[in-house]
Amino acid sequence: MKLSGSWNVRALALSLLFTGASAFAFADGAPRTTPKPAPAAVAQKPGHAAIASANFLATEAGFEVLSKGGNAFDAAIAVASTLSVVEPESSGIGGGFMGVLRTAGGHESFIDARETAPAAVNPKDYLNADGTPNRDTSLNGPLSAGIPGEPAGLVLLAQKYGKLPLTVSLAPAIHAARDGFKPDPRLRGSIAERVKDLNRWPASAAKFLPGGKPPAEGELWRDPNQARTLEALAAHGLAGFYQGETAEALVKAVKAAGGDWTLKDLATYRAKERTPVAVDYHGYHIVTAPPPSSGGVAIAEILNILSGFDLAGLDEAHRTHLVIEAMRRAFRDHNDYLGDPDFVKMPLDMLLSPYYADGLRQSILPDKATPSSMLPAVSARDPGMHTTHFSIIDKDGNMIGITTTVNYILGSTFVAGDTGVLLNDEMDDFALVPNMPNVYGLLGSKANAPEPGKRPLSSMSPSLVLGKDRSAVIGSPGGSTIITQVLEGILAFVDGKSATGIAAQKRYHHQFLPDRVDVEDGVFDAATADALKRMGYDLHPREPWGYMNVVTWDHQTNALDAASDPRRPSGLGKVQ
Ligand code: GLY
Repeated sequence: MKLSGSWNVRALALSLLFTGASAFAFADGAPRTTPKPAPAAVAQKPGHAAIASANFLATEAGFEVLSKGGNAFDAAIAVASTLSVVEPESSGIGGGFMGVLRTAGGHESFIDARETAPAAVNPKDYLNADGTPNRDTSLNGPLSAGIPGEPAGLVLLAQKYGKLPLTVSLAPAIHAARDGFKPDPRLRGSIAERVKDLNRWPASAAKFLPGGKPPAEGELWRDPNQARTLEALAAHGLAGFYQGETAEALVKAVKAAGGDWTLKDLATYRAKERTPVAVDYHGYHIVTAPPPSSGGVAIAEILNILSGFDLAGLDEAHRTHLVIEAMRRAFRDHNDYLGDPDFVKMPLDMLLSPYYADGLRQSILPDKATPSSMLPAVSARDPGMHTTHFSIIDKDGNMIGITTTVNYILGSTFVAGDTGVLLNDEMDDFALVPNMPNVYGLLGSKANAPEPGKRPLSSMSPSLVLGKDRSAVIGSPGGSTIITQVLEGILAFVDGKSATGIAAQKRYHHQFLPDRVDVEDGVFDAATADALKRMGYDLHPREPWGYMNVVTWDHQTNALDAASDPRRPSGLGKVQ
């Protein structure tokens, strides 16, 4: 690789030193940024509520539960469980979620309801005879599924943060599953896209292909089996899903189809509360996702790098250049170091340190792209339709953002017997073959290798942005693009954009490898695009990606705002 004459060798050496960093003291997995006291203004009560989700039925379910005396956390249970019924292509009780929350009293926490590998996980199940990845076993059927985390996460939310029993907060989802709803074009299209795989398993075909084909436009679609499973969860909490009849049916169906789950895998699953990653940027306090998500660490690293630049004083091309270079450096670290904090020690002190960011900042040239091949080697994803995010602020000022997933579209496509539970295919988020990309092109290291009980690395990055004048809850689906979408959302919010402006703004994305900038049509004007190309960027047009759902709170006027991404029609951001 040839270097341009202007390359600053000292800066490169510094960057290599920091990014090569095995000599640094490793942390125990807990983020060590010092939490700052919350801005005083956040303690106000808005007096009304805002919910933005990817499906209007889910948003309305949240308001229904608020009207019954619930708070934002009860509403989150209603939204997530209703999405499990009406948007099963993206998330559900057979999958897992990550959520960031702040109570009206100022307590911040992170709920990790990520799936775990079953005790019998065998990495060889995901390899072909020649050692290449077997994408069928990692993406389809019971071997691709981790032990679901969403039901346990909802129980944790209800028990620790909610005001209502699960019988009330799960009622809208049970109602939608039992009495039916009209699937939107995206769900009908997702089913049509995966007909072949759904037909491999009788319970999947029975659920998603009534009469042998996807539900037709305007047809009422019912899911009585899922309604029964949700009722058991409502009545018995954790035991209603992870023990007893539901657990037995899940294990039986998985084993019969070639998977290897045990009752113990289910009975021992627990959602966990973790300390969120926190970073300050231009007067805002950002609270975001810790490992086993790579998202918050990457966002914090990028913001730490950018906080040393005067972005507002730059033209768009130079501002974009600096953001892309910060993305490039953060994604490189993501691939190398991160995994489940219960299993791997990660250099989080280093990755989140402003001094580390100083070194990375100095390695950025003012007018030139840094080829990724110049940084220590290590990753990449496709902006998929999977996963979904919703954001809520209630009348008292409780805030929660949840990103939830079954991984790929319709997860594993495997419905477990008569439980109605569509299982995830989160096993593909492990680095099944070191340095071979997963379905999103993301590479991984040993830190993210599959092990019994381990959680696969995620990109999910639900985030709170807390300021004196304004605060926001931001998140989006989209594989690795989640990280850059949320980052661009935070930057737009800091620049004063409204919820609608943030959700609608055009996107760009760089993830270290492949070394290119994915661009949504219209994101740059012609002059900016030309300037970026002259700096050495490969601008790669691609279809619009993401499905951002944002709520904001103006502390001056106490007004809330909510917006659902205009790229897809079924979402609803509503203030009431
Ligand atoms: N399954 C996508 C993610 O967790 O990032």
